[in-house]
Order: sequence, then C-alpha cells, then structure tokens
Amino acid sequence: MSRPRILVTRKLPTDVEARALSHFAATLNPDDGPSAREDILANAQGKDGLLVTVTDRIDAALIAALPASIRIISTFSVGYDHIDVAAAQARGIAVTNTPDVLTDATAEIALLLILGAARNAASGMATLREGRWKNWAPTGMLGTELSGKRLGILGLGRIGRATAHRARAFGMEIHYHNRHRLPPELEAGARYHADIASLFGASDVFSIHCASTPDTRGIVNRETIALLPHGAILVNTARGDIVDDEALIEALASGRLGAAGLDVYNNEPNLHPGYLNLSNAFLLPHLGSATLETRNAMGFRALENLEAFFAGNTPRDLVVP
Ligand code: DGY
Repeated sequence: MSRPRILVTRKLPTDVEARALSHFAATLNPDDGPSAREDILANAQGKDGLLVTVTDRIDAALIAALPASIRIISTFSVGYDHIDVAAAQARGIAVTNTPDVLTDATAEIALLLILGAARNAASGMATLREGRWKNWAPTGMLGTELSGKRLGILGLGRIGRATAHRARAFGMEIHYHNRHRLPPELEAGARYHADIASLFGASDVFSIHCASTPDTRGIVNRETIALLPHGAILVNTARGDIVDDEALIEALASGRLGAAGLDVYNNEPNLHPGYLNLSNAFLLPHLGSATLETRNAMGFRALENLEAFFAGNTPRDLVVP
C-alpha cells in the first residue's frame, strides 16, 4: 500500500522530519517561514493530511477550500484555537493536537516570566546593555519577593499544575479558578475560587493557563485588572487574546500593576508596540515550548496521531469541538 501523503507546513526538528519522511510521502518546508493560506491550499493538493502549527490559520474558509483528499489535520501544538475544529468536523476531517509533552517546558517559562517580572529583569538587562549601570544602589531596581506571595492560576490544568508545583518551591501559596473544582489530589493544597473575581482579588501574581475560547477571550480586561491587588504581577503563557492589551498597557504604565511577564500576544508576531516601551514588561517571543526535547516530542506526537489515523485507529489526541 502506498504511504499516506502529508503536507508539513513548517520546518520541524531534524529527527521529526526524518521520521515524517520514513513513514509518509511527506512534503516538507525546508526554507520555513509561515505559509500563506494560498500556499497551504496549493500544496495540499493531492495530500491526505496536513501537519500544521500555531502560525497556520486554519479557519472555516480555508477548510472549505481544502481538497477532498484531506482527511486529517494534525497540529504541532497543544492549543488548537487556530483551527476551526467544528468546520473540520463538519467536513469529516479529524483534528489532533499534542498535549502533555510541552507541559514542563511551558511551566518553566511561566516561572521564568514570574521571576523576571518580579525582579525587574527587563529593566536590569537594559540598564546593563545600554551602559547605564553606574553603581550598586541600596534602593535601585527593587523588585518583589515571591516567598509568601499568592499565585493565582487561571486554569489549573496540566500546565497550570506544573507551574503551581514549581511555584511552591519558591514558597508561593497557590490559588486557582477552573469551571469545576479539582479533586484534592490534583489541587495539592491549592485554594479554589469558584468565582473568578475572587481569584483576581487574591492574586499577588496572576498567571494565565487556560485555553483561548469564546469564554476566556478578553477575560483579563479593565474591569478584572481593577480587581487585582495594587502592584500585582500578570503573567501570560497561554494565548494573547485572553488579555485586552490596551487595558494591560495602561495598568502597567500607571503603576496600577507592578509588572507583567508575557510570552504570548494578540496578533503575533506584531505585538502591541505599547509593550515595548514599558520597563516593567518582561517579554519573550512565544518560547513556551521552545526546547529541542519538547519540540521533538511535539513532532513525534503529531506524527503518531497521523500514523494511528492512517492505520485505521482513533488517534490518541483527537480533538472534539
Ligand atoms: C502550543 O503548543 O499551543 C504553544 O503555544 C506552541 O508551542
């Protein structure tokens, strides 16, 4: 039997591409660079499946225009808000993602952001690199200690729990909001807030770990930021559209919030320019899963989902709308 034909839209780690080529008739993207939708549509001709990433906007219009031969879209990401899963399902196209394998890497970046924001890392680094560091000062660049502070986690799922686990080692007290309370073994002592407003009020550091959905988009806005304690820190490793940029920038500029640590943005990579002028914004370019170990694991998981599907089995990470 001939091997299934897949289109891989971005350059993937070497070992992942080698496996893609050994299991599939794979069309790779050696030059990389996000694909324009016309390229995806043109290159999808004659393929059985797509292996896409968060930079590919697979909306209803694109799904409607895909050739009838496409039966599965496997995304190299845990998030799948870039794919209209309902539209795919309506056309009989399966969608899979890559949960679990990026949990630790993303939690590590969340801790980096919490520390970087709390300890003025952005302005400290700029002071040094721009030759503005004149001397050690008893009152210079004072940050906030994490020990004894309350970490509010919006979305105590896999990544939220891995972040909580690491934050406990820094002496932080964990609070969280989910739609449903978790069993005690998963809470591990974290305090549940059934009402999200109560979580905002109880968070010295507020860290976002929920998926981007119609319910969570824009949930961090002027009204909810006003509920945070004065000088609180906001951290986002989930998705940019959960935050209202104008509201956050205003709160950081006025000192209403102490600092922010951000890895994800609205309209990536063209983030709101207002962030770039804020010395209390510690910013990274969507590095949450960016380790070779994790990117390999994501690639293998995305391929395993394709392999299972084309072998006639239900893929492990089938996404349902
Ligand atoms: C994901 O997987 O959803 C991340 O945002 C990219 O690694």
